[in-house]
Amino acid sequence: SLKVDNVQALAKKLGSEIPDRYVRPERKEDIAAGDDEVSDESIPIIDFGKLFDSEYSDEEAAKLHSACEDWGFFQIINHGIPQDIISKLREDIEEFFSLPLEERENFAQLPGQVEGYGQTFVQSEEQKLDWGDMLFIATLPPSFKQLRFWPTNPSSCRKSIDEYAVELKRVADGLLQIISKNLGDEFGNVYEMFKGGMQTLRFNYYPPCPSPEKVLGLSPHSDAVVLTLLLQMNEMHGLQIKRNGGWLPVKALPRAFIVNIGDIIEILCNGKYKSIEHRAVVNHEKERISVAGFHTLNIGDFVGPIPEIVKGDELLYKSLPFEEYAKQIFASKLEGKSILDRMKL
Ligand code: SIN
Ligand code: FE2
Repeated sequence: SLKVDNVQALAKKLGSEIPDRYVRPERKEDIAAGDDEVSDESIPIIDFGKLFDSEYSDEEAAKLHSACEDWGFFQIINHGIPQDIISKLREDIEEFFSLPLEERENFAQLPGQVEGYGQTFVQSEEQKLDWGDMLFIATLPPSFKQLRFWPTNPSSCRKSIDEYAVELKRVADGLLQIISKNLGDEFGNVYEMFKGGMQTLRFNYYPPCPSPEKVLGLSPHSDAVVLTLLLQMNEMHGLQIKRNGGWLPVKALPRAFIVNIGDIIEILCNGKYKSIEHRAVVNHEKERISVAGFHTLNIGDFVGPIPEIVKGDELLYKSLPFEEYAKQIFASKLEGKSILDRMKL
């Protein structure tokens, strides 16, 4: 991606005028259409513990199935990740983002690469920019780690990320086990593939903005992965999902994870579950920090409809080696469901 200004630094020196490259004309129409009005709808809540408690598992798995089918987004509570692992990660990441810019830039992306601190999806000089910075790193399997992008300040940061990554993978695998079963993965082959998959983490930092109604923290997109588990690091909300043609704000419960079905699940189940577009808005009071945990496939896997799941239905998506599929993701800007659209037959 191309190098652009650090938004945190920009926001600090800015008056009330937002540079043109951040101003989104479409925001005016959304607001006029009433999309920013509060809706009483909220995404389903799944109790992770119940999924693995024989007394409740059938009922909770059925709830998860409806959540995947009707929403593509849900929250999970009772996930069992120790609160001190989450608090420590939060503390360390907040501290990293509060370092002077020169220090944060020790972990900056290299030209043409995606990992590191910066902006991941800038492909042209004309493209509108998001009101946020990100730190993007591969975490699992451990052989994929590129430690040069992992903060060393605060000194406990790498350990905090490692511990969080392992816990998060456990929860993701648990959900994927039930999701595969719900999709009819009789022999567990799909779940085995998910278990061997990669994990990346993206720490999003959205600085406060003098005119939040003019910008977007993160452009509308669907996630090109299998499953995303998002943790809001502070009390600031900002995620919105596409629902009935409008943008529905998601208010995460304290300590809950927001989970969404990614493009790869939509493809492998031939559209039974959908990967839903979402975006992030910002506010003028306070920065917002979130961490998206992406779970995807691994080298050697194929992205495509799975015969045991699809049965005799007409195929809607093509198959590609995961390596080829992944290359397309980072050659694109974030734009709706454009990556998924390219997989359509
Ligand atoms: C994301 O889509 O990765 C993050 C959205 C958010 O920060 O809420
Ligand atoms: Fe996303």
